[in-house]
Amino acid sequence: MTEIKIFSPATVANVSCGFDVLGFCLDGVGDEMIVRKTKDKGVKISKIEGYDLPTEATKNVAGVAALALLEDAQPDFGFEIEIYKHIKPGSGVGSSSASASGSVFAINELLGRPYSKTQLTYFAMKGEALASGSEHADNIAPGIFGGFTLVKSTAPLEVVQLPTPDDMFAVIIHPQIEIKTSEARAILPKDIPLKNAITQWANLGSLVHGLHTNDYQMIKRSLIDVVVEPYRSQLIPYYDEVKLSAFNNGALGCGISGSGPSIFTLCQGQSQAQQVELAMREVYSKTEIAFNTYSCKINTAGIRILSTNV
Ligand code: HSE
Repeated sequence: MTEIKIFSPATVANVSCGFDVLGFCLDGVGDEMIVRKTKDKGVKISKIEGYDLPTEATKNVAGVAALALLEDAQPDFGFEIEIYKHIKPGSGVGSSSASASGSVFAINELLGRPYSKTQLTYFAMKGEALASGSEHADNIAPGIFGGFTLVKSTAPLEVVQLPTPDDMFAVIIHPQIEIKTSEARAILPKDIPLKNAITQWANLGSLVHGLHTNDYQMIKRSLIDVVVEPYRSQLIPYYDEVKLSAFNNGALGCGISGSGPSIFTLCQGQSQAQQVELAMREVYSKTEIAFNTYSCKINTAGIRILSTNV
C-alpha cells in the first residue's frame, strides 16, 4: 500500500464528570486525510483545505504527531499528508486531535500496522500538545479506539475502552464563536475542594458502571460536572438556557464538549435525540449568534479507512 484515505471523526472530551480522562467518538462529522509514501524522508503537508492552518510539519498537529511516530519507526522513506478539514478549529469537538490521530493512524496502516492503538494515541498526543499546551488524550483515544474511552493514565499511557450502550445518541450544538483550549484551561483553578472532588469521582465511577450495565438512568444521574463547568460555562453564551431545554426534552445529560464552545447532550434513542436537537436549536435561533447542530449514534469504530492505493 502506498496511499490511504481516511475519515478521522470529531470527538467529545470530558463527558461532564471526566475532565481530561473521558471521551466518546462522533460519526458523520470529521476530517478526511490522504497520506502517501514518498521517496524523501520526513513529513510534508502538501495540502490543507477547509481552514487556514500551518503547512510546516513542525507547526502542524498532524505533522508533529507524524514526526513523533517516524522518530520511533525510522523508515527509509517519508510521507506526504493532505488534510481536508471539516471540523472547525476551536469548536470543542477535537479538531486538532482528529488531525493528529488521523495522521498517525494512516501512517501506521502504510507501515503495515507495527503500532498498537495505545502507541498511536501516544504519538498523537505530541500533536495535541502543540495545539493546547497539554498532552491530554481524551479526544485522541476515542478517535483511535472508537466508542467511549477512559484515559487511566498518560505516563505511562493506559487507555481503557468502555462499552457503548446500543441505543446511545449524541447531539451537538456549535455556536460559531471560538474558544481556545489553552485559554479555557488557563481559567481553571489549580486546586479544587475535596467535597467537589468526591462528587466528581463518584459520578465518574457511576457513569462507567452505567455504560457497562446499559443503565440509562444511572448514566443520567452521573452526567454532572461540579469541577469545570462552573468556570467554563461562563464563556458560552446561553449555556444555561440550552442545558435546561435539553433536559426538559428528555436528554440524559448535557455539558460542555471538550473546552467548548460546543455543547453536547447524550440521549437514549434517535427520536429523543431529534427532539433534543430541535429544542437546542430553538434556544439559539432566538439569539444573534450563528450556530449549527448535528446528531448521530456514538461511533464505536473510530477512524475509518475510505480507500487505499497500491
Ligand atoms: N480535556 C480537554 C480540556 C479537552 O477540556 O481542556 C480539550 O482539548
